[in-house]
Amino acid sequence: MKRGRTAVIVGAQWGDEGKGKVVDVLTRTFEVVARYAGGHNAGHTVIINGKKFILQLVPGGILRPECTSVIGNGVVLDPLAFLKEVASLRAGGVKVDGNLFISNRAQVILPYHRMMELGSENAPGGVKIGTTSRGIGPSYEDKMGRRGLRVADLLDEKLLRTHIENACREKNLIGHALFNVDPLDADKMFREYAGAAREVAPFVRDTALLLNQALAEGKSIVFEGAQGTMLDIDHGTYPFVTSSSATSGGASTGTGIPPTSIDTVIGITKAYCTRVGGGPFPTELTDAQGEDIRKRGNEFGAVTGRPRRTGWLDLPLLRYAGMINGISWLVVTKLDVLDHLTEIPVCVEYKVDDQATGEVPAQACGYEKIECIYHKMPGWTTPTSNVRTLEALPKAAREYLAFIEKETGARVGMISTGPDREQTILVPEFVRALELSH
Ligand code: GDP
Ligand code: IMO
Ligand code: MG
Repeated sequence: MKRGRTAVIVGAQWGDEGKGKVVDVLTRTFEVVARYAGGHNAGHTVIINGKKFILQLVPGGILRPECTSVIGNGVVLDPLAFLKEVASLRAGGVKVDGNLFISNRAQVILPYHRMMELGSENAPGGVKIGTTSRGIGPSYEDKMGRRGLRVADLLDEKLLRTHIENACREKNLIGHALFNVDPLDADKMFREYAGAAREVAPFVRDTALLLNQALAEGKSIVFEGAQGTMLDIDHGTYPFVTSSSATSGGASTGTGIPPTSIDTVIGITKAYCTRVGGGPFPTELTDAQGEDIRKRGNEFGAVTGRPRRTGWLDLPLLRYAGMINGISWLVVTKLDVLDHLTEIPVCVEYKVDDQATGEVPAQACGYEKIECIYHKMPGWTTPTSNVRTLEALPKAAREYLAFIEKETGARVGMISTGPDREQTILVPEFVRALELSH
Protein backbone atom coordinates (compact mmCIF):
# COMPACT_ATOMS: atom_id res chain seq x y z
CA MET A 1 0.00 0.00 0.00
CA LYS A 2 1.17 3.53 -0.79
CA ARG A 3 2.10 5.44 2.35
CA GLY A 4 -0.14 8.34 3.36
CA ARG A 5 0.57 11.91 2.36
CA THR A 6 1.95 14.41 4.87
CA ALA A 7 2.14 18.16 5.27
CA VAL A 8 3.67 20.40 7.92
CA ILE A 9 1.84 23.57 8.90
CA VAL A 10 4.44 26.01 10.16
CA GLY A 11 4.21 29.59 11.37
CA ALA A 12 6.35 31.77 9.08
CA GLN A 13 6.48 34.73 11.50
CA TRP A 14 6.29 35.05 15.32
CA GLY A 15 3.27 32.86 15.91
CA ASP A 16 -0.48 33.53 15.79
CA GLU A 17 -0.47 33.49 11.99
CA GLY A 18 -3.73 31.52 11.92
CA LYS A 19 -2.28 27.99 11.98
CA GLY A 20 -5.31 26.66 13.88
CA LYS A 21 -7.67 27.77 11.14
CA VAL A 22 -5.49 26.35 8.36
CA VAL A 23 -5.16 22.97 10.11
CA ASP A 24 -8.94 22.92 10.43
CA VAL A 25 -9.35 23.49 6.69
CA LEU A 26 -6.85 20.72 5.87
CA THR A 27 -8.67 18.21 8.07
CA ARG A 28 -11.37 18.16 5.37
CA THR A 29 -9.30 15.30 3.96
CA PHE A 30 -6.32 14.73 6.28
CA GLU A 31 -6.99 11.92 8.74
CA VAL A 32 -4.45 12.50 11.50
CA VAL A 33 -3.22 15.74 13.10
CA ALA A 34 -0.04 15.69 15.20
CA ARG A 35 1.38 18.48 17.35
CA TYR A 36 5.17 18.32 17.50
CA ALA A 37 6.43 21.20 19.64
CA GLY A 38 5.58 23.68 22.36
CA GLY A 39 2.91 23.25 24.97
CA HIS A 40 -0.03 25.24 26.28
CA ASN A 41 1.80 28.45 25.39
CA ALA A 42 0.07 27.94 22.03
CA GLY A 43 -3.42 29.26 21.40
CA HIS A 44 -4.94 28.09 18.13
CA THR A 45 -8.32 29.56 17.27
CA VAL A 46 -10.83 27.73 15.12
CA ILE A 47 -14.23 29.22 14.36
CA ILE A 48 -16.89 26.93 12.91
CA ASN A 49 -20.24 28.50 12.06
CA GLY A 50 -19.60 31.26 14.57
CA LYS A 51 -18.62 28.85 17.37
CA LYS A 52 -15.15 29.58 18.72
CA PHE A 53 -12.65 27.00 20.00
CA ILE A 54 -9.23 27.97 21.40
CA LEU A 55 -6.98 24.94 21.43
CA GLN A 56 -3.77 25.00 23.45
CA LEU A 57 -2.47 21.43 23.64
CA VAL A 58 -5.06 19.46 21.76
CA PRO A 59 -4.50 19.34 17.97
CA GLY A 60 -7.08 20.89 15.65
CA GLY A 61 -8.16 17.49 14.33
CA ILE A 62 -10.26 17.07 17.47
CA LEU A 63 -12.98 19.23 15.92
CA ARG A 64 -13.65 16.55 13.28
CA PRO A 65 -14.78 13.34 15.00
CA GLU A 66 -13.35 11.15 12.22
CA CYS A 67 -9.82 12.56 12.73
CA THR A 68 -7.14 11.16 15.03
CA SER A 69 -5.24 13.74 17.11
CA VAL A 70 -1.78 13.15 18.50
CA ILE A 71 0.30 15.12 21.00
CA GLY A 72 3.82 14.15 19.98
CA ASN A 73 6.98 13.54 21.99
CA GLY A 74 8.32 17.03 21.17
CA VAL A 75 5.54 18.65 23.20
CA VAL A 76 5.80 19.62 26.88
CA LEU A 77 2.58 18.55 28.56
CA ASP A 78 1.04 20.14 31.62
CA PRO A 79 -1.31 17.34 32.75
CA LEU A 80 -3.62 19.74 34.60
CA ALA A 81 -3.89 22.07 31.60
CA PHE A 82 -4.51 19.07 29.36
CA LEU A 83 -7.31 17.74 31.57
CA LYS A 84 -8.88 21.19 31.77
CA GLU A 85 -8.85 21.51 28.00
CA VAL A 86 -10.29 18.03 27.56
CA ALA A 87 -13.04 18.80 30.10
CA SER A 88 -13.98 21.97 28.27
CA LEU A 89 -14.02 20.17 24.89
CA ARG A 90 -16.21 17.42 26.37
CA ALA A 91 -18.55 20.04 27.81
CA GLY A 92 -18.82 21.53 24.32
CA GLY A 93 -19.89 18.14 22.93
CA VAL A 94 -16.52 17.36 21.29
CA LYS A 95 -15.48 13.69 21.15
CA VAL A 96 -12.10 13.10 22.82
CA ASP A 97 -12.17 9.41 23.69
CA GLY A 98 -10.51 6.97 21.34
CA ASN A 99 -9.38 9.73 18.94
CA LEU A 100 -6.88 11.70 21.05
CA PHE A 101 -3.48 10.33 22.05
CA ILE A 102 -0.44 11.61 23.98
CA SER A 103 3.10 10.37 23.42
CA ASN A 104 4.54 8.37 26.31
CA ARG A 105 7.79 10.23 25.55
CA ALA A 106 6.41 13.77 25.88
CA GLN A 107 7.89 15.79 28.74
CA VAL A 108 5.79 16.79 31.73
CA ILE A 109 5.49 20.35 33.05
CA LEU A 110 5.39 20.48 36.84
CA PRO A 111 4.65 23.43 39.17
CA TYR A 112 8.34 24.10 39.85
CA HIS A 113 8.82 24.87 36.16
CA ARG A 114 6.39 27.76 36.46
CA MET A 115 8.02 28.81 39.74
CA MET A 116 11.48 28.97 38.11
CA GLU A 117 10.17 30.80 35.05
CA LEU A 118 8.37 33.48 37.07
CA GLY A 119 11.43 33.91 39.28
CA SER A 120 13.75 34.34 36.34
CA GLU A 121 11.39 36.59 34.32
CA ASN A 122 10.94 38.90 37.30
CA ALA A 123 14.57 38.86 38.48
CA PRO A 124 16.10 42.35 38.49
CA GLY A 125 18.75 42.86 35.82
CA GLY A 126 17.85 39.75 33.80
CA VAL A 127 16.64 39.61 30.19
CA LYS A 128 12.84 39.71 30.21
CA ILE A 129 11.55 37.52 27.37
CA GLY A 130 7.88 38.22 28.02
CA THR A 131 7.00 34.53 28.19
CA THR A 132 3.53 33.05 28.59
CA SER A 133 4.43 31.94 32.18
CA ARG A 134 3.42 28.34 31.48
CA GLY A 135 6.71 26.72 32.56
CA ILE A 136 7.64 25.92 28.97
CA GLY A 137 11.32 26.99 29.03
CA PRO A 138 12.28 25.34 32.36
CA SER A 139 10.56 22.13 31.29
CA TYR A 140 12.61 21.97 28.07
CA GLU A 141 15.70 22.80 30.16
CA ASP A 142 15.06 19.71 32.27
CA LYS A 143 14.48 17.66 29.12
CA MET A 144 17.84 18.65 27.65
CA GLY A 145 19.50 18.34 31.07
CA ARG A 146 18.26 14.73 31.11
CA ARG A 147 16.45 15.24 34.40
CA GLY A 148 12.91 15.69 33.06
CA LEU A 149 9.86 13.59 33.77
CA ARG A 150 8.25 11.96 30.76
CA VAL A 151 4.60 10.96 30.43
CA ALA A 152 5.52 7.26 30.76
CA ASP A 153 7.17 8.09 34.11
CA LEU A 154 4.20 10.18 35.23
CA LEU A 155 2.10 7.01 35.06
CA ASP A 156 4.55 5.10 37.27
CA GLU A 157 3.54 6.12 40.81
CA LYS A 158 6.70 5.01 42.57
CA LEU A 159 8.91 6.77 40.07
CA LEU A 160 6.69 9.84 40.15
CA ARG A 161 6.99 10.14 43.93
CA THR A 162 10.79 9.84 43.88
CA HIS A 163 11.06 12.26 40.96
CA ILE A 164 8.89 14.91 42.62
CA GLU A 165 10.68 14.57 45.98
CA ASN A 166 14.14 14.90 44.44
CA ALA A 167 13.17 17.68 42.02
CA CYS A 168 11.38 19.70 44.72
CA ARG A 169 14.39 19.45 47.03
CA GLU A 170 16.64 20.82 44.29
CA LYS A 171 14.25 23.41 42.80
CA ASN A 172 13.21 24.73 46.22
CA LEU A 173 16.87 25.29 47.13
CA ILE A 174 17.62 27.05 43.84
CA GLY A 175 14.35 29.01 43.91
CA HIS A 176 15.06 30.25 47.41
CA ALA A 177 18.70 31.12 46.70
CA LEU A 178 18.08 32.89 43.40
CA PHE A 179 14.60 34.35 43.63
CA ASN A 180 13.66 34.09 47.31
CA VAL A 181 10.44 32.22 46.44
CA ASP A 182 8.40 30.10 48.88
CA PRO A 183 9.12 26.34 48.71
CA LEU A 184 6.70 23.96 47.00
CA ASP A 185 5.20 21.04 48.96
CA ALA A 186 6.37 17.79 47.34
CA ASP A 187 3.78 15.62 49.07
CA LYS A 188 0.85 17.77 47.95
CA MET A 189 2.30 17.91 44.42
CA PHE A 190 2.64 14.13 44.30
CA ARG A 191 -0.98 13.57 45.33
CA GLU A 192 -2.27 16.07 42.77
CA TYR A 193 -0.18 14.72 39.88
CA ALA A 194 -0.74 11.04 40.74
CA GLY A 195 -4.48 11.81 40.52
CA ALA A 196 -4.02 13.61 37.20
CA ALA A 197 -1.89 10.73 35.90
CA ARG A 198 -4.77 8.30 36.39
CA GLU A 199 -6.98 10.51 34.21
CA VAL A 200 -4.28 11.06 31.59
CA ALA A 201 -3.39 7.33 31.35
CA PRO A 202 -6.12 6.29 28.85
CA PHE A 203 -4.75 8.80 26.31
CA VAL A 204 -1.13 7.62 26.45
CA ARG A 205 0.42 5.61 23.62
CA ASP A 206 3.69 5.05 21.79
CA THR A 207 2.61 7.68 19.27
CA ALA A 208 5.70 7.33 17.03
CA LEU A 209 4.55 3.78 16.42
CA LEU A 210 0.93 4.86 16.01
CA LEU A 211 1.86 7.56 13.46
CA ASN A 212 4.24 5.39 11.45
CA GLN A 213 1.63 2.62 11.33
CA ALA A 214 -1.01 5.13 10.21
CA LEU A 215 1.31 6.29 7.39
CA ALA A 216 2.03 2.71 6.35
CA GLU A 217 -1.73 2.10 6.16
CA GLY A 218 -2.03 5.01 3.72
CA LYS A 219 -3.45 7.53 6.20
CA SER A 220 -2.59 11.20 5.72
CA ILE A 221 -1.02 13.28 8.48
CA VAL A 222 -0.86 17.01 9.03
CA PHE A 223 1.77 18.22 11.47
CA GLU A 224 0.40 21.20 13.40
CA GLY A 225 3.20 23.60 14.18
CA ALA A 226 3.00 25.82 17.23
CA GLN A 227 4.65 29.25 17.63
CA GLY A 228 6.56 30.37 14.51
CA THR A 229 9.89 30.37 12.70
CA MET A 230 11.15 33.51 14.42
CA LEU A 231 10.36 31.96 17.83
CA ASP A 232 12.35 28.79 17.05
CA ILE A 233 15.06 28.03 19.60
CA ASP A 234 17.78 27.81 16.89
CA HIS A 235 16.55 29.96 14.03
CA GLY A 236 14.50 32.66 15.77
CA THR A 237 15.38 35.99 17.33
CA TYR A 238 17.35 34.37 20.18
CA PRO A 239 17.06 34.81 23.15
CA PHE A 240 13.58 36.25 22.48
CA VAL A 241 12.26 32.88 21.37
CA THR A 242 10.42 29.91 22.81
CA SER A 243 12.37 26.85 23.91
CA SER A 244 11.43 24.35 21.20
CA SER A 245 12.02 23.56 17.53
CA ALA A 246 9.02 25.32 16.06
CA THR A 247 10.33 25.07 12.48
CA SER A 248 9.48 22.20 10.12
CA GLY A 249 12.49 20.09 11.19
CA GLY A 250 10.81 19.79 14.59
CA ALA A 251 7.95 17.85 12.96
CA SER A 252 10.26 14.91 12.50
CA THR A 253 12.08 14.89 15.85
CA GLY A 254 8.90 15.91 17.67
CA THR A 255 6.80 12.98 16.42
CA GLY A 256 9.18 10.20 15.36
CA ILE A 257 8.17 10.42 11.69
CA PRO A 258 11.35 10.31 9.57
CA PRO A 259 12.23 13.44 7.52
CA THR A 260 12.02 11.32 4.37
CA SER A 261 8.29 10.90 5.02
CA ILE A 262 7.53 14.62 4.97
CA ASP A 263 6.04 15.63 1.61
CA THR A 264 5.09 19.29 1.87
CA VAL A 265 5.72 22.27 4.10
CA ILE A 266 3.07 24.97 4.22
CA GLY A 267 4.10 28.30 5.72
CA ILE A 268 1.42 30.46 7.30
CA THR A 269 1.81 34.23 7.19
CA LYS A 270 -0.47 37.10 7.97
CA ALA A 271 -0.86 39.74 5.25
CA TYR A 272 1.02 41.91 7.77
CA CYS A 273 3.04 40.98 10.84
CA THR A 274 2.60 40.65 14.61
CA ARG A 275 4.55 39.49 17.62
CA VAL A 276 3.70 39.18 21.29
CA GLY A 277 6.35 39.46 23.98
CA GLY A 278 9.76 41.14 23.82
CA GLY A 279 12.43 41.09 21.12
CA PRO A 280 13.30 42.47 17.68
CA PHE A 281 10.58 43.35 15.17
CA PRO A 282 12.04 45.31 12.22
CA THR A 283 8.76 46.41 10.60
CA GLU A 284 6.97 47.25 13.86
CA LEU A 285 4.52 50.16 13.86
CA THR A 286 4.38 51.93 17.19
CA ASP A 287 2.09 54.71 15.97
CA ALA A 288 -1.67 55.13 15.36
CA GLN A 289 -1.38 52.94 12.25
CA GLY A 290 -0.13 50.05 14.40
CA GLU A 291 -2.93 50.63 16.89
CA ASP A 292 -5.47 50.63 14.04
CA ILE A 293 -4.23 47.26 12.71
CA ARG A 294 -4.32 45.86 16.26
CA LYS A 295 -7.95 46.93 16.59
CA ARG A 296 -9.11 45.80 13.15
CA GLY A 297 -7.20 42.52 13.38
CA ASN A 298 -8.27 41.95 17.00
CA GLU A 299 -4.60 41.41 17.78
CA PHE A 300 -4.78 40.26 21.38
CA GLY A 301 -3.26 36.96 22.57
CA ALA A 302 -5.69 34.02 22.33
CA VAL A 303 -4.33 32.65 25.61
CA THR A 304 -2.88 35.54 27.58
CA GLY A 305 -5.02 38.39 26.17
CA ARG A 306 -1.85 40.47 25.80
CA PRO A 307 -1.94 43.10 23.02
CA ARG A 308 0.13 41.94 20.06
CA ARG A 309 2.68 44.27 18.51
CA THR A 310 1.84 44.98 14.86
CA GLY A 311 3.79 45.91 11.73
CA TRP A 312 4.02 45.58 7.95
CA LEU A 313 4.79 42.39 6.10
CA ASP A 314 8.50 41.59 6.23
CA LEU A 315 9.62 39.81 3.05
CA PRO A 316 13.28 39.26 4.06
CA LEU A 317 11.96 37.35 7.09
CA LEU A 318 9.47 35.46 4.95
CA ARG A 319 12.26 34.44 2.55
CA TYR A 320 14.30 33.32 5.57
CA ALA A 321 11.32 31.29 6.86
CA GLY A 322 11.03 29.77 3.37
CA MET A 323 14.68 28.73 3.43
CA ILE A 324 14.71 27.33 6.97
CA ASN A 325 11.45 25.40 6.63
CA GLY A 326 11.51 24.46 2.95
CA ILE A 327 8.17 26.17 2.37
CA SER A 328 6.61 25.31 -0.98
CA TRP A 329 3.13 26.73 -0.29
CA LEU A 330 2.17 29.85 1.58
CA VAL A 331 -1.15 30.56 3.21
CA VAL A 332 -1.85 34.27 3.60
CA THR A 333 -4.27 35.01 6.44
CA LYS A 334 -6.08 38.13 7.63
CA LEU A 335 -6.10 39.78 4.21
CA ASP A 336 -9.42 41.39 5.23
CA VAL A 337 -7.66 43.38 7.97
CA LEU A 338 -5.96 45.50 5.25
CA ASP A 339 -9.21 46.06 3.26
CA HIS A 340 -9.51 49.74 4.22
CA LEU A 341 -5.98 50.86 3.32
CA THR A 342 -5.28 52.94 0.21
CA GLU A 343 -1.60 52.06 0.31
CA ILE A 344 0.23 49.10 1.90
CA PRO A 345 3.98 49.32 2.58
CA VAL A 346 5.84 46.00 2.43
CA CYS A 347 9.45 45.56 3.55
CA VAL A 348 11.34 44.16 0.56
CA GLU A 349 14.93 44.44 1.72
CA TYR A 350 17.13 45.02 4.75
CA LYS A 351 20.01 47.45 4.63
CA VAL A 352 22.86 47.42 7.12
CA ASP A 353 25.40 50.28 6.88
CA ASP A 354 23.79 51.26 3.56
CA GLN A 355 24.44 47.80 2.10
CA ALA A 356 21.59 45.54 1.04
CA THR A 357 21.69 42.22 2.84
CA GLY A 358 19.69 39.02 2.61
CA GLU A 359 21.12 37.88 5.91
CA VAL A 360 19.04 37.77 9.07
CA PRO A 361 21.09 38.78 12.13
CA ALA A 362 22.17 36.09 14.57
CA GLN A 363 22.23 38.55 17.45
CA ALA A 364 19.15 40.29 18.81
CA CYS A 365 21.15 43.54 18.87
CA GLY A 366 21.94 43.05 15.16
CA TYR A 367 18.37 44.06 14.33
CA GLU A 368 19.01 47.55 15.68
CA LYS A 369 21.31 48.21 12.71
CA ILE A 370 18.71 47.16 10.14
CA GLU A 371 17.03 49.72 7.94
CA CYS A 372 13.86 48.39 6.31
CA ILE A 373 13.37 49.29 2.65
CA TYR A 374 9.67 49.52 1.84
CA HIS A 375 7.80 49.09 -1.39
CA LYS A 376 4.35 50.66 -1.39
CA MET A 377 1.60 48.53 -2.87
CA PRO A 378 -1.77 50.02 -3.81
CA GLY A 379 -4.60 49.01 -1.47
CA TRP A 380 -7.92 47.57 -2.72
CA THR A 381 -10.29 49.48 -0.41
CA THR A 382 -13.00 46.86 -0.95
CA PRO A 383 -14.31 44.34 1.59
CA THR A 384 -12.93 40.83 0.99
CA SER A 385 -14.47 38.87 3.87
CA ASN A 386 -17.19 37.35 1.68
CA VAL A 387 -14.94 36.56 -1.29
CA ARG A 388 -14.56 32.81 -1.93
CA THR A 389 -12.49 32.62 -5.14
CA LEU A 390 -9.19 34.10 -6.23
CA GLU A 391 -10.78 35.62 -9.34
CA ALA A 392 -13.37 37.44 -7.24
CA LEU A 393 -10.69 39.22 -5.19
CA PRO A 394 -10.08 42.87 -6.09
CA LYS A 395 -7.25 43.25 -8.63
CA ALA A 396 -4.97 45.08 -6.16
CA ALA A 397 -5.40 42.26 -3.64
CA ARG A 398 -4.43 39.70 -6.28
CA GLU A 399 -1.40 41.84 -7.11
CA TYR A 400 -0.46 41.98 -3.44
CA LEU A 401 -0.51 38.17 -3.31
CA ALA A 402 1.36 37.85 -6.62
CA PHE A 403 4.03 40.18 -5.24
CA ILE A 404 4.47 37.93 -2.19
CA GLU A 405 4.84 34.93 -4.50
CA LYS A 406 7.40 36.67 -6.69
CA GLU A 407 9.45 37.88 -3.73
CA THR A 408 9.46 34.57 -1.82
CA GLY A 409 9.46 32.00 -4.60
CA ALA A 410 6.62 30.13 -2.87
CA ARG A 411 3.10 29.70 -4.25
CA VAL A 412 0.14 31.13 -2.38
CA GLY A 413 -2.23 28.19 -2.05
CA MET A 414 -4.82 29.55 0.30
CA ILE A 415 -6.03 32.95 1.43
CA SER A 416 -8.01 33.62 4.57
CA THR A 417 -10.33 36.62 4.62
CA GLY A 418 -12.00 36.11 7.99
CA PRO A 419 -11.75 33.91 11.07
CA ASP A 420 -14.51 31.45 10.15
CA ARG A 421 -13.80 28.10 8.50
CA GLU A 422 -15.87 29.25 5.50
CA GLN A 423 -13.99 32.53 4.98
CA THR A 424 -11.35 30.80 2.92
CA ILE A 425 -10.14 30.97 -0.66
CA LEU A 426 -8.53 27.78 -1.93
CA VAL A 427 -6.37 27.94 -5.04
CA PRO A 428 -7.25 24.98 -7.33
CA GLU A 429 -3.59 23.83 -7.73
CA PHE A 430 -3.26 23.73 -3.94
CA VAL A 431 -6.47 21.70 -3.63
CA ARG A 432 -5.09 19.27 -6.23
CA ALA A 433 -1.57 19.07 -4.76
CA LEU A 434 -2.89 18.36 -1.27
CA GLU A 435 -5.83 16.25 -2.42
CA LEU A 436 -8.22 18.46 -0.49
CA SER A 437 -11.27 17.82 -2.61
CA HIS A 438 -11.96 14.16 -1.73
P1 GDP B 1 -2.46 30.50 15.60
O1 GDP B 1 -1.84 30.52 16.95
O2 GDP B 1 -1.47 30.57 14.49
O3 GDP B 1 -3.43 29.35 15.41
O4 GDP B 1 -3.33 31.84 15.49
P2 GDP B 1 -4.29 32.46 16.65
O5 GDP B 1 -5.54 31.68 16.69
O6 GDP B 1 -3.54 32.65 17.91
O7 GDP B 1 -4.51 33.91 16.07
C1 GDP B 1 -5.13 34.14 14.87
C2 GDP B 1 -6.36 35.03 15.14
O8 GDP B 1 -6.83 35.56 13.92
C3 GDP B 1 -7.53 34.26 15.72
O9 GDP B 1 -8.28 35.12 16.54
C4 GDP B 1 -8.32 33.86 14.49
O10 GDP B 1 -9.71 33.64 14.76
C5 GDP B 1 -8.14 35.08 13.64
N1 GDP B 1 -8.12 34.84 12.18
C6 GDP B 1 -7.59 33.79 11.50
N2 GDP B 1 -7.69 34.01 10.17
C7 GDP B 1 -8.27 35.22 10.02
C8 GDP B 1 -8.59 36.02 8.89
O11 GDP B 1 -8.37 35.67 7.75
N3 GDP B 1 -9.16 37.23 9.14
C9 GDP B 1 -9.42 37.68 10.39
N4 GDP B 1 -9.98 38.88 10.53
N5 GDP B 1 -9.12 36.95 11.48
C10 GDP B 1 -8.55 35.75 11.30
P1 IMO C 1 0.94 30.01 18.78
O1 IMO C 1 1.12 28.53 18.62
C1 IMO C 1 2.79 33.86 19.74
C2 IMO C 1 6.06 33.81 22.66
C3 IMO C 1 5.82 34.48 24.00
C4 IMO C 1 7.23 34.94 24.31
C5 IMO C 1 8.10 33.81 23.78
C6 IMO C 1 8.53 32.80 24.81
O2 IMO C 1 -0.40 30.39 19.29
O3 IMO C 1 1.36 30.73 17.55
P2 IMO C 1 7.25 30.86 26.12
O4 IMO C 1 6.10 30.92 27.08
O5 IMO C 1 7.00 30.00 24.93
O6 IMO C 1 8.54 30.52 26.80
O7 IMO C 1 7.43 32.38 25.60
O8 IMO C 1 7.30 33.15 22.79
N1 IMO C 1 5.06 32.78 22.29
C7 IMO C 1 4.11 32.95 21.35
N2 IMO C 1 3.78 34.03 20.62
N3 IMO C 1 2.16 32.69 19.53
C8 IMO C 1 2.48 31.59 20.24
O9 IMO C 1 1.94 30.37 19.99
C9 IMO C 1 3.49 31.69 21.22
N4 IMO C 1 4.05 30.82 22.10
C10 IMO C 1 5.01 31.50 22.73
O10 IMO C 1 4.93 35.55 23.89
O11 IMO C 1 7.54 36.09 23.56
MG1 MG D 1 -1.93 31.60 18.72
